Amino acid sequence: MLDDRDRIFTNVYGMHDRTLDGAKQRGHWDGTKDILGKGRDWIVNEMKASGLRGRGGAGFPTGLKWSFMPKESDGRPSYLVVNADESEPGTCKDREIMRHDPHTLVEGCLIASFAMGAHAAYIYIRGEYIREREALQRAIDEAYDAGLIGPNACGSGYDFDLYLTHGAGAYICGEETALLESLEGKKGMPRMKPPFPAGAGLYGCPTTVNNVESIAVVPTILRRGASWFAGFGRQNNAGTKLFAISGHVNNPCVVEEAMSISFEELIEKHCGGIRGGWDNLLAVIPGGSSVPCVRGEKMKDAIMDFDYLRGELGSGLGTAAVIVMDRSTDIIKAIWRLSKFYKHESCGQCTPCREGTGWMMRVMERLVKGEASVEEIDMLFDVTKQVEGHTICALGDAAAWPIQGLIRNFREEIEDRIRGRGAAIAAE
Ligand code: NAI
Ligand code: SF4
Repeated sequence: MLDDRDRIFTNVYGMHDRTLDGAKQRGHWDGTKDILGKGRDWIVNEMKASGLRGRGGAGFPTGLKWSFMPKESDGRPSYLVVNADESEPGTCKDREIMRHDPHTLVEGCLIASFAMGAHAAYIYIRGEYIREREALQRAIDEAYDAGLIGPNACGSGYDFDLYLTHGAGAYICGEETALLESLEGKKGMPRMKPPFPAGAGLYGCPTTVNNVESIAVVPTILRRGASWFAGFGRQNNAGTKLFAISGHVNNPCVVEEAMSISFEELIEKHCGGIRGGWDNLLAVIPGGSSVPCVRGEKMKDAIMDFDYLRGELGSGLGTAAVIVMDRSTDIIKAIWRLSKFYKHESCGQCTPCREGTGWMMRVMERLVKGEASVEEIDMLFDVTKQVEGHTICALGDAAAWPIQGLIRNFREEIEDRIRGRGAAIAAE
């Protein structure tokens, strides 16, 4: 279990003072000027050495992403954009950072922007996070007043401005290019990639889009050293990580732990175990609604990191939003509910997603009621494969994967329901 001294987020539960004074007492904003004084290359190299992989879900190496930004300006400004549009069902970790430890993010924005030659950064927060927005704005104002950001930030000679803006309730605006469109005042619809934002992002300028947690951990990594951070977790899965555990555990919570902790330890140490005991565990979605669910039996010994969950269990760490379901759950209905969500949130721009999400949801609805035929299970799986990888953005994949996980893991239950319903009709 992670030692308290190794926690980056020391105020996740809001027990301490979240103002600038409180943040400073907990070690934030300590030696920021010295960090900037070490130069852009040093910062990017340290981030690469730390092994930090993006905490928004995809796990792309953060230092590598920063290194895609141009070293010399071609006349266009560079930008950092922080994706705070946390909307993945089950995911509520960035919320805790912004409302209780906002200075970690503000300081991270300064350092990350400096490392990429950006003099301005935008934080795009989801519209529903009203209290979080207020807390973050207060922290930004405090940092300006104290000269930590703004002209000559921290006395470093570097000018840096930080803007907070908010969305209006569309899940798709968390997709990085839809977010950029929305930030530009347009309808939030994803762009084709490439070009990636580092080549042409906000207003066509070099931009890096990073998740809140990815940026908020930066100052501590640089203060304590890349090797300290890299010392947690397995190779290629380094660091500490916020896990958001919800559903049928005795104590749902958000907790910072070392990467690669076992699922059993995570649940026993922090959540007081599974409701009704381990034999009562039916299924787990280990990384937010976009990743496939896994049968409970397979999860007990699981290692909570990117490579294990994908490689061994065909699922993913995603945002580390761990959704636990016990045997009282109608798992077919639970996945149908996700299908309904993705259908509703599809922007409708590309045909496989626009049509496929509705089609998949309707078949799922019939599976829930036991009204589909057994042959339709394979047909549904086939449709998910036609959607996956054939759309402009990852929402198509996100709609397909939960259904694939259901069919792979719970086929027997689906067939039983269809046969049970058939028997019930025959008896009527
Ligand atoms: P992605 O794998 O396409 O990209 C990840 C990041 O790496 C992006 O910033 C992208 O620009 C960059 N990148 C990837 N390949 C690159 C290349 N060759 N050159 C330059 N940059 C490159 O994944 P995406 O679509 O950005 O995110 C999908 C993930 O988002 C899913 O895994 C899902 O778990 C997560 N998600 C998180 C949500 C949340 O609330 N935090 C909401 C919805 C989805
Ligand atoms: Fe829009 Fe769906 Fe296409 Fe993404 S995959 S661009 S959400 S229609």
